[in-house]
Amino acid sequence: MSATPRIPVPQNLESPLPMTLPRLAEKKRLGEPIVMVTAYDHPSAQVAETAGVDLVLVGDSGAMTVLGYPSTVPVSTEEMLMLAAAVRRGLRTPLLIGDLPFGSYEASDEQAIATAQRFVKEAGCDAVKLERGGTSVRRAQAIVEAGIPVMGHVGLTPQTATALGGYRAQGRTAQRALEVARDSIALQEAGCFSLVFEAIPSAVAQLLTARLEIPVIGIGAGPATDGQVLVFHDLLGIYDGHTPRFAKRYGELREQMIAGVAAYAAEVRRGAFPGPEHVYSIDEDERRTFENGLIALG
Ligand code: KIV
Repeated sequence: MSATPRIPVPQNLESPLPMTLPRLAEKKRLGEPIVMVTAYDHPSAQVAETAGVDLVLVGDSGAMTVLGYPSTVPVSTEEMLMLAAAVRRGLRTPLLIGDLPFGSYEASDEQAIATAQRFVKEAGCDAVKLERGGTSVRRAQAIVEAGIPVMGHVGLTPQTATALGGYRAQGRTAQRALEVARDSIALQEAGCFSLVFEAIPSAVAQLLTARLEIPVIGIGAGPATDGQVLVFHDLLGIYDGHTPRFAKRYGELREQMIAGVAAYAAEVRRGAFPGPEHVYSIDEDERRTFENGLIALG
């Protein structure tokens, strides 16, 4: 098994202040980079908490990374709520954002508000995220007016990747970049507190980030956005599926996990586990009495 890389655990996180929307806006104003990561369960939430990130997204990428679906499209609201509630129980400080799954908000403002309310009431999310401009702008505004903070998501929007021609970078012509710009401005005007830019050219992201008042969190959008987001399983090397070009790996945990389980299996098969240090003892008199009692049972 390869040696575990030594990643320094932040030392200055004894009682960090909980992230709030005003603090997030302040970070943009001060030019302080915002760190966001996805999480899908209690341990990944605890890791994000301890590592001191600012924002945690229960992304519908969990459909693929933890639920085994081929895309984000099939995941249900119930499944997302279960993941989000588990993350909530592991999180204190970062702002928790729940991703509204495909088909749970597009049909009407009423549907969008009802789904967003479930993420807040049942899973304890602080905010929700939805994808695209167009009709999603109205849905975002409706949810904001219902009192729930909304994060927008433009560029490559995986829920509608088929309509975009596949999982490919967006905004690579002036016309498409202007469409991304119009959607972004409309989402800001609808009251979104922040936007995700996914897979758009760095130069487009740079111009738009400077133009927008709300924080922009990039994934595959270059270094000029106000913050970055990565998918937990991509950044730690846990996921076996396709990893996009923009997903930098900071660990190879999948290899370590396989090596760990394979070592366990090998030890069980050759009788090396459990060893004396893993077992409970019983007083010899008690053991003998038990054995005799067992014989008497017939
Ligand atoms: O679902 C997800 O993980 C996301 C991020 C890529 C922003 O939407």
